Amino acid sequence: ERTPVGKVLLFGATGDLAQRMLLPSLFGLHTDGLLPDGLTITGSARSDFADKEYREFARKALDEFLPKELKDKKGIDAFLERLFFQPCDLSDQKTFPALAEKIGDVSGGLAIFLSTAPSLFEPAVKGLEKVGLAGPTVRIGLEKPLGYDLASSIEINDTVAAAFSEDRIFRIDHYLGKETVQNILALRFGNTFFEPIWNAQGIDNVQITIAETVGLEDRAGYYETAGALRDMVANHMLQLLALIAMEPPANYDPTEIRDEKSKIFRALRHMAPEEVPANTVTGQYVEGAVKGEVVKGYDGELGYDSNVETFVAIKAHVDNWRWQGVPFYLRTGKRLPVRRSEIAIQFKPVPHSMFSGRGGLLQPNTLVIRLQPEEYIELLVMSKQPGLDREGVKLRELPLKLSLDAEYAGTRRRIAYERLLLDLIEGDQTLFVRRDEVEAQWRWIDAIRAGWAANATKPKHYPAGTWGPSAAIALTERDGVTWMDD
Ligand code: BG6
Repeated sequence: ERTPVGKVLLFGATGDLAQRMLLPSLFGLHTDGLLPDGLTITGSARSDFADKEYREFARKALDEFLPKELKDKKGIDAFLERLFFQPCDLSDQKTFPALAEKIGDVSGGLAIFLSTAPSLFEPAVKGLEKVGLAGPTVRIGLEKPLGYDLASSIEINDTVAAAFSEDRIFRIDHYLGKETVQNILALRFGNTFFEPIWNAQGIDNVQITIAETVGLEDRAGYYETAGALRDMVANHMLQLLALIAMEPPANYDPTEIRDEKSKIFRALRHMAPEEVPANTVTGQYVEGAVKGEVVKGYDGELGYDSNVETFVAIKAHVDNWRWQGVPFYLRTGKRLPVRRSEIAIQFKPVPHSMFSGRGGLLQPNTLVIRLQPEEYIELLVMSKQPGLDREGVKLRELPLKLSLDAEYAGTRRRIAYERLLLDLIEGDQTLFVRRDEVEAQWRWIDAIRAGWAANATKPKHYPAGTWGPSAAIALTERDGVTWMDD
C-alpha cells in the first residue's frame, strides 16, 4: 500500500546528480501532477544558500538539464515554490539541529535522499537520528556507492539499520528505474513462450553489455576508488543478470521479487583466486578516437598513472538447476565505440539441420533486449531468402522487432529517477535493493578482486573507441561464442 510523505529532504542538493537527474525528475513528477499537494522539498548541502538562491540555482539546473519533452512544460515557478534550502555539513554534527528546525514536523512523513561518500554515512545517520529525523515516519533513500567491498558495505548497512528499519531503507540502483529493465519481467512472465526454454536446455549463453563513450567526466575522486567492476558490475549489471536469471516470483511484490533476485546473487559461482585470470579481463583506455574525436587516455585525464580498470569483462555462472553450464558474459567499459546497454540471449542451435551443406547455414536464435539508447526487443529468427533455390534453400537471419520507441512514440520517456523518487515518496520498495542482495553481490565481487590482487593483475590498455582489450574477445571465443556487435 502506498503512503505518500509530505516532505522530501535532498542531501547533495547542489551536486551533479541533483542538477542532472533529481531536480528534472522531481519537476517531471510535479508537472504530471504526481507529487502530493503541498509536498515540500528541502535541499541541503554545504553551500550557504537561502531558499531564494536555491530556487534560482534549481531554475538554472532545469534550464540546462530538462529533457526536451519537459522543456516547454509550464509550471516551473510553481515547482520552485516547493523548494527550500538549509545548509548542512554531514561531517559536522552541530549543523543538524538547524536542519531539523527547518524541516519541522515530520509526522506527515519525510523521505530523505542521501547520496554521499561511504565515509559520511555514519555521521549523516547519527546526525539525523539525534535531531529526530529518523523516526518511524521517515524513509531514507541511499545512493551508491554503498561501500567498496563487503566489509564496508556491512558497516554502512549496520549504521543505517541502527536508525532505520529495513522497510524504511530504499537502496537505489537507477537501472531498476529504467522502463526497459522492468520490461524484462513483462517479457519473461507476461508471455508463455519464453519460459519453457529459458534454461540450460534452451539457452546457450547470455551476454550483458553496458558500453559507454564517456570517460572520467570529472569524477576522478570517486572513480579511482571504484573502477568498472565496482562502479557498474557490482550493482547495475548484477541486477540485470538477476532479472534475466531469477525464478518466476509469485507476485509483483517487493518481498517476492527481491527474494528471487537474492537467490540468484547467492547462487553466483564464486571464483577461487586461481580461476580469476581465466574468467575476467580488465582494461584501461589510452588515447584514441571516439566517434571521430580524439580523446585522452585515462592516465592523461587523471594527470598521473593509475591501475584502476575502466573496462571489465567477466564470464560468470549461476550455480543452480536452471542455469547449470550456461555462461553469463558481462562486459562494460568507458570510452567504447558506442553508448549501448544490451542483453543478448543466445539460444541453443537446432538439434539437427535439414538444410546443412546447402547454403543454408543456421544461426542459433538470439533475443536482444536493447535498453539504451534505443529501447527495443528483437528476436533473430531464421527465414527463407526469396528465390527458386535450385542449389538448395537459402536461409537468412532476420529480426522480429518490437520497438518500444515506435510503439510509444507519443509517450514521454521518463527519467529512471522519476519512478524511483516517486516510489520513495510513496513507499514502494519493489525497485529498491534489499540488504541481503547488496551483501551477496559484494561477496562475489570481493572474490574477483581478491583474485586480481593475488595475481597482481593490471588492466590491459585499449585505445579509446575500441571494444576493450582483445583478451575480452578471446574470453568468449574460447567457448566458441562471439559478442553481439552491430
Ligand atoms: C552510474 C555510474 O551508476 O551509471 C556511471 O556510476 C555510469 O559511471 C552510469 O556512467 C551509467 O548510467 P546510464 O543510465 O547512463 O547507463
